[in-house]
Order: sequence, then structure tokens, then C-alpha cells
Amino acid sequence: MNLYRACVRPLLFSVDAERAHRATLHVAGAVGRSAGGRAAIRALCAFEDPRLRVSAGGIDFPNPVGLPAGFDKNGVATAALAALGFGSIDVGSISAQPSAGNPERPRLFRIPADRGLIVFYGVPNDGAAAVARRLAGIHLPVPLGISLVETNTGAPAPVDTVIREMVEAARPFLGSATYFALNLNCPNSAGGFSHFDDPVHLRALLAGLREVVGAVPVFVRVTPPSDPAGIDAVLDALDPYPFVKGLSFYDPKKDLRPRLRTPASELARMRGSVSAPIAREGMQATIREWYRRIDRKRHVLVGCGGIASAEDAYRTIRLGASLVQIYTALVYEGPGLVGRVKRGLVRLLERDGFAHVRDAVGVDNAAHAPR
Ligand SMILES: Cc1cc2nc3c(=O)[nH]c(=O)nc-3n(C[C@H](O)[C@H](O)[C@H](O)COP(=O)(O)O)c2cc1C
Repeated sequence: MNLYRACVRPLLFSVDAERAHRATLHVAGAVGRSAGGRAAIRALCAFEDPRLRVSAGGIDFPNPVGLPAGFDKNGVATAALAALGFGSIDVGSISAQPSAGNPERPRLFRIPADRGLIVFYGVPNDGAAAVARRLAGIHLPVPLGISLVETNTGAPAPVDTVIREMVEAARPFLGSATYFALNLNCPNSAGGFSHFDDPVHLRALLAGLREVVGAVPVFVRVTPPSDPAGIDAVLDALDPYPFVKGLSFYDPKKDLRPRLRTPASELARMRGSVSAPIAREGMQATIREWYRRIDRKRHVLVGCGGIASAEDAYRTIRLGASLVQIYTALVYEGPGLVGRVKRGLVRLLERDGFAHVRDAVGVDNAAHAPR
């Protein structure tokens, strides 16, 4: 019997989604603060296998299954989350200034018929200085990613302001961040508008960050153009900046709503962006396309969007992702999912005769060439 599905989920799902999110963080934070609590989580959840270790962008990940930004926005439960067995934890997204996020309530919705969430948080967070203080001196057994975003003021800011802000947001985390993840196209603030869809602005941001981050690895989350020229323009913008080690994708223009099972009448009262397994196909197509065009000696791809099982993670890796991230499926399946995905990955690697997860990266991609 799955304890989470049988007991915990009904309890969490009986209250407002944002409240349930806060309560989960509160409990995880309390458990994670004690060494005994962390050891107990590890005893229940931990499963590591040397075949799952990933070295990417100069970082050693114990396994490729990470937690993306948006769950632990303020770094309040980071130690407990690391004990669950994720290969990396992204905290944030964090902006230079504190932000309450979007004023509307509710701003987080469950759509169980689609095993999804609709999110209109608008990146609420305590601001870089406060979160950095909270994380100072924290020693995690896994890489810590700090996701940076522009401050949500409810209206688009001039590009120079946004660049200055994001550079300032990075500064307090030097020393605690293993890497930075740039959230460059948050769908729920500034009306979904992103300056950084323009490669000229992306280049300017990276030029600014170079002064501050030095050699700390950076991963960028961009809106993926689908045409080869558009992809190459993004890659050209990254080219002068060797500290950029990888890419992940979110396409705010892709409207998933027409494909949802949840009735349109219900969806009508849920403003926000959809996170659900139906996003997976599009994400995998993006990974497939970009794997062909990146310089694989320089950049890795992070597959994130709709992954809910070991099979989903494995397929994404076989298409070209070196790392994957999982969020929404955890809400439906519980924390045990992390271990199940990792065990499943080992089983699938064994089935297909791979000695190591890196050997599976890109094998289903026509562009794959053994290295
Ligand atoms: C409630 C919620 C809040 C999120 N907040 C952020 C955020 O602050 N920054 C960010 O870059 N992504 C955020 N995301 C997006 C996730 O990082 C992830 O890319 C997305 O949910 C797709 O993965 P999934 O299908 O496994 O959930 C959020 C997602 C959810 C569900």
C-alpha cells in the first residue's frame, strides 16, 4: 500500500493547494532541521547507485533526478528535500527584492483529472538577502541550485533594470550556490513577457553575470524557438560565456489547456500556467531537437516537464537529457517517487545493457554519436 496516496494525499488535497504547499514545507523544514530527522528520511528513502552518478558542467550529481525551482522557494526545507534522495535541489526562484507574488487568491490549483497543477503564484519569495542568510553555512549532500528571477512588480520592467536586478540577486549566494539556474521566462509575472527571448538581451544578461558569478556554473531556462536558426541564435548568445553549462526549457506560448481532461468550465476559474504530464511530449521533442544542435562538450540539457515515472525519465535521457527534474508528479505520488524513479532507472539501464546512465544519454536521438 502506498501510504502517501492512501493517507497523506487525501489530507493535503482536502485543503487549499497553496495552504497544503505551505504545510508540507513547514513539516519538511521541521524534520530537516534535526540530524535525526534527516537520518530518518534517508533511511526511508535513500537509494543510490554508482551507475546513476552524473558529472555535468563540472558538477558531480549523485543521480540525475533533481527537484526544480518552485517547491522550496525560500530555502526553508532544503535539507529535508536533499535527504529524500534528489540528485540536486533548486531553491527559488528568488529575486533581488522580496515579493509577495501575485495578489490574486487562490493562485494554485489542482487538476486531478490531469494529474496536474495550475500555477499563478507570480514568484513570491523572501528576496535574495533573506534566503541567502537562511542557506549560509548549509551543507547539503547534493548540489544546490539557486534559481534567479526578476522581481515581480506586476508590470514589465526595462531590460537594464531586470539585468541589474538578476546580477544583484546572484551576489549573496556566492559561497552557497553550487550553480545558478536562470528563470528567464516566468509565465506568471510581468504578464509572461520575457526580454530574454531576444538573444541580444540574453547576451547582455550573461555579460553582467560574468562579473559576479565568475566560474560558478549557470543553467539557463529559456523559451525554446523550434526553428534551427532560432535555436542557433540562442546558442550563439551563450557562446562567449563558458560558465553557462546547460539549458532547460519552458515554453509559455504553448497552450496546454485545450488538451486537458478537466472541464473547460472548471478551468475557466483557474488562471495560470499548466504543469501536467501532457507537457512531457513537447518537452521531449524540444530535448530531441536541441540535443542535435548543442555543443555536447560544453552544454548539457535538463529535461523538465511532465515526468512522472522512471520510464518518462529514461526516455527523456535517451533523447538527450543528462539531467531530469520532477515536481508536479511528487504532489500526486509523494516523496517515495524519487526513489522509485531512481530504482526504475537502474532497472532500465540493466535491461538495455548500459553500464552507466551517461551511456544512455541521446541514444534514441538520430544525432547521437558514441563518444
Ligand atoms: C507550484 C509551482 C511553482 C513553480 N514555481 C517556479 C519558480 O518559482 N521558478 C521556476 O523556474 N519554475 C517554477 N515552476 C516550474 C517547475 O520548476 C517545473 O519547471 C514545472 O513544474 C514542470 O515540471 P513538472 O511537470 O515536473 O512539474 C513551478 C511549478 C509549480 C508546479
